[in-house]
Amino acid sequence: SCPATNPSMLNVHLVPHTHDDVGWLKTVDQYYYGDRNNIQHAGVQYILDSVIDQLQKDPARRFIYVETAFFYRWWRQQSQSTQRIVAQLVNEGRLEFINGGWCMSDEATTHYSAVIDQMTLGLRFLNDTFGECGRPRVAWHIDPFGHAREHASIFAQMGYDGFFFGRLDYQDKARRMKTKEMEMLWRASESLTPPLADLFTGVLPNGYNPPEGFCWDQSCDDAPIRDDPDLEDYNVDEIVQKFLNAAFYKTNHIIMTMGSDFQYENANLWYKNMDKLIKYVNALQAKGSKVNVLYSTPSCYLQELNLANLTWPLKTDDFFPYADDAHDFWTGYFTSRPALKLYERLSNSRLQTCNQLEVLGGPKSKSGPFGEGDSDTMKRAMGVAQHHDAVSGTEKQHVAYDYARRLATGWAHCEVQKHKLHHSNTLATLGSEAPRVFCENLNISVCPLTESSHKFSMNVYNPLGRTVSWPVRLPVNGSVYSVTDANGRAVDSQVGNVFISLKCTCYIYDMKSSCLLPLLSVSMYQKSESFQKNEVMCVFVLFGNYRYNASAGNNKESRQTSGAYIFRPNSSDPFVINKTAETQIVTVSSTVQEVTQRFSPWVSQVVRLYEGHRELELEWTVGPVPVADGLGKEVITRLDTDIKSSDYFYTDSNGREVLERRKDYRPTWELKQTEPVAGNYYPINSRAYIKDDKHQLTVVTDRSQGASSLYNGSLEIMLHRRLLYDDFRGVGEPLSEPGEFSDGLVARGRLLLTLSPPDTAADVHRPLAQGMVLQPLLSFQDGTPSANTKLEFSGLQTSLPPAVHLLTLSQWDKDTALIRLEHQYQAKESKTHSQPVTVNLQKLFSTLEVLGASEMSLGANQWKEDMNRLQWNTEKTSKPLPLSAKDPSPWEVTLNPMEIRTLLLRVRQL
Ligand SMILES: *[C@@H]1O[C@H](CO)[C@@H](O)[C@H](O)[C@H]1NC(C)=O
Ligand SMILES: *[C@@H]1O[C@H](CO)[C@@H](O)[C@H](O)[C@H]1NC(C)=O
Ligand SMILES: *[C@@H]1O[C@H](CO)[C@@H](O)[C@H](O)[C@H]1NC(C)=O
Ligand SMILES: *[C@@H]1O[C@H](CO)[C@@H](O)[C@H](O)[C@H]1NC(C)=O
Ligand SMILES: *[C@@H]1O[C@H](CO)[C@@H](O)[C@H](O)[C@H]1NC(C)=O
Ligand SMILES: *[C@@H]1O[C@H](CO)[C@@H](O)[C@H](O)[C@H]1NC(C)=O
Ligand SMILES: *[C@@H]1O[C@H](CO)[C@@H](O)[C@H](O)[C@H]1NC(C)=O
Ligand SMILES: [Zn+2]
Repeated sequence: SCPATNPSMLNVHLVPHTHDDVGWLKTVDQYYYGDRNNIQHAGVQYILDSVIDQLQKDPARRFIYVETAFFYRWWRQQSQSTQRIVAQLVNEGRLEFINGGWCMSDEATTHYSAVIDQMTLGLRFLNDTFGECGRPRVAWHIDPFGHAREHASIFAQMGYDGFFFGRLDYQDKARRMKTKEMEMLWRASESLTPPLADLFTGVLPNGYNPPEGFCWDQSCDDAPIRDDPDLEDYNVDEIVQKFLNAAFYKTNHIIMTMGSDFQYENANLWYKNMDKLIKYVNALQAKGSKVNVLYSTPSCYLQELNLANLTWPLKTDDFFPYADDAHDFWTGYFTSRPALKLYERLSNSRLQTCNQLEVLGGPKSKSGPFGEGDSDTMKRAMGVAQHHDAVSGTEKQHVAYDYARRLATGWAHCEVQKHKLHHSNTLATLGSEAPRVFCENLNISVCPLTESSHKFSMNVYNPLGRTVSWPVRLPVNGSVYSVTDANGRAVDSQVGNVFISLKCTCYIYDMKSSCLLPLLSVSMYQKSESFQKNEVMCVFVLFGNYRYNASAGNNKESRQTSGAYIFRPNSSDPFVINKTAETQIVTVSSTVQEVTQRFSPWVSQVVRLYEGHRELELEWTVGPVPVADGLGKEVITRLDTDIKSSDYFYTDSNGREVLERRKDYRPTWELKQTEPVAGNYYPINSRAYIKDDKHQLTVVTDRSQGASSLYNGSLEIMLHRRLLYDDFRGVGEPLSEPGEFSDGLVARGRLLLTLSPPDTAADVHRPLAQGMVLQPLLSFQDGTPSANTKLEFSGLQTSLPPAVHLLTLSQWDKDTALIRLEHQYQAKESKTHSQPVTVNLQKLFSTLEVLGASEMSLGANQWKEDMNRLQWNTEKTSKPLPLSAKDPSPWEVTLNPMEIRTLLLRVRQL
């Protein structure tokens, strides 16, 4: 259905579009209905009404729609006859879905698990509703503030043919325009065999806005096209010249985004003027003009690029950090709203648990295919939370509260479902009379049940596919407790801090560690198998808390301030918050050693080492950040070691593959560094590390944060920020979260530190990070379980192999479940685990019989065998490319390093 183009002319593809944020200055509901137009004039329901009306007036007109969270709501409110008209427009390619996830996700602060889920949710709605013609071919991230390599890898594996975005570093963009490298092939994985993770990627010429002077929305001031009799007034020749000047693309096609934020509420304005633009510019062809303007879509433009059969430059790193000017680095949002970032991450863990229990509980735990199950509220809340102004922390305060409220409702729905399950016969239950309590404030040591009960039971659901050891700390009131496990065996515990070692096979944590805790510093000693017996490896780790003072806009180089998006310290050296922290050894026992450090009334830290664990836990508490001195503050923790890391450090991409970073350096262009701190910050979603030949220090985080290494041997992580000025990127508020008592938000979190030889480090940090993402679900009941209660249950027959991660297990239809199995190691990362590994689907579950399995694309909206992506030629690479192993039989799935296999299983409850 693509429009005809002219091979001997410059073809200008006009792409009518609207950019509808799933919450930002207004909540997602306010945007949908057009409520609170005093904040921002925007109403998505009217946009869709108006566009559908205008599309019917001329078959040449095109429109693309992106955010399924909005479209889904609108669709459900339409009459059958409107639905029929829309379906026809989709079938004829006049209305095309692009991207198609629930939202346009943020790329810096999202975790791949939640990104895949939100894409799956949107794509499923489109396939269920429109079938094959509703399947988006192009990924479209026109607004996110920097681009992650893992996102590109995910899009490639979802079957997208190409990817377009608007924002990249201004120095990078200038260079690419000069060398005609605005379009390229992105090789987004070092582990997957090309072209599995290759994605054609294009930078749009005007961000996502129309070219200057061509904005014809009701929200714009540009002059309409005045024809007959005043046409002379409007210089069509000048327009033609403007298009010809945009010659920084390789082919004789260019794409023009005709639209912007919440535009097309009165679509007639746009279409009427574009109709004229096309008519008058093309009329000049009779006089020898070589410009051909047409209505088009990103996939039609992409098809022309593909037909051109050129060789495209290859890109292998990512697009972080993003700067739009010399002192304007968008690296603050990596940490903005730390509590929302944690809550979003914990909600992902809850959703995965909820999904798994629905499958294990069988059909009775869920009543319908789409929109009625207990997990669906949480799926949609998480889908909305991935938006690039949600988990990113760049929304207004009232909108941030709305995201949190949606997640809380999701939790409540999942709890209803867990109650149901625990009363069903399928799943083992601990007693059935006493109400089950989920103590959601355990993070601040509050659980009324455990605090008041003399006898209670705790139920632990572990959503990982393998056994873990997980320390538990409960607030209690008594002084003597006896703790037993499911088999009646005593569990090592200690009153004040009850530590219950869950079913544990410590297949990697088999090295003893000990620790000395002098003031402000920790030495970690560990014996490692790969070293000579008794040889002690020692790295000195000094950690301290620092803060940067935020620029207040009075700096002579630029008026840029630190804000929700932008990080701009007013000096490159951070201030030490307190050199002489008050240190208290709280506990030294058989289960844990723990030291509390108070740096100031608003910064403290607990350092813990658990028996049988190799990692050191730092539990930090920051806030309320004082600002009475008139200075905004950005608080970091810095680990200074004698590791000879030089200028190099490593950060993960959306929690998966790791990229090498180098101070004051970009792999693809000659960087002119203008912000020595902010210009070296990168997002981390699950981990960061520094290393030399002998040692690797890895920090695993509990949420997304910003991190950097500014000195040899040093790694810093930004924990919290509180600022006094807006940073002029539209949100219009300073980032100063009020917290519970309006005197500033208190944020608390954990960092896990591990020290290993570099060649075995992944064997430690990979499982550690997965354990941090998928946390056990604890629930409590008063009293003793009755005698006939089954106390232990496992949904899997055996532990998954160490390299395999159970990424998804979710009810799909009545008799089908969606499963994603993932190889969690990169190629060459681990001697032991970076090998192909095979899983037998029929031997997976203990209560489900697998009757059939069909493989799907990563987004689960296409059968694997139907996937047929466009092929692209690229420069030759010198790097050896990984090869992949094949499945030995239809029931056995082989996973190569970093591979995710998505399967629809036909299942029957046993
Ligand atoms: C595309 O170009 C390559 C050379 O780069 C050539 O071998 C191939 O035949 C071309 N394909 C088409 C369909 O023109
Ligand atoms: C503790 O968790 C609850 C949600 O369960 C959250 O609302 C609260 O902000 C958390 N408190 C801290 C200090 O992180
Ligand atoms: C703790 O125990 C004391 C004495 O047994 C009792 O008075 C108090 O109410 C208990 N606290 C809670 C929260 O139950
Ligand atoms: C930077 O912060 C310091 C306070 O730590 C203040 O004295 C100074 O005026 C600030 N400079 C600018 C340019 O804002
Ligand atoms: C630093 O810590 C010491 C010891 O706990 C305390 O006396 C002092 O008040 C702290 N200083 C600041 C600025 O918080
Ligand atoms: C980094 O520090 C180590 C000592 O910890 C030193 O031996 C090495 O030369 C330093 N490297 C650079 C590039 O400064
Ligand atoms: C897409 O939806 C159609 C029904 O519209 C269904 O028959 C087909 O199986 C779906 N495809 C996938 C891959 O789920
Ligand atoms: Zn946006």
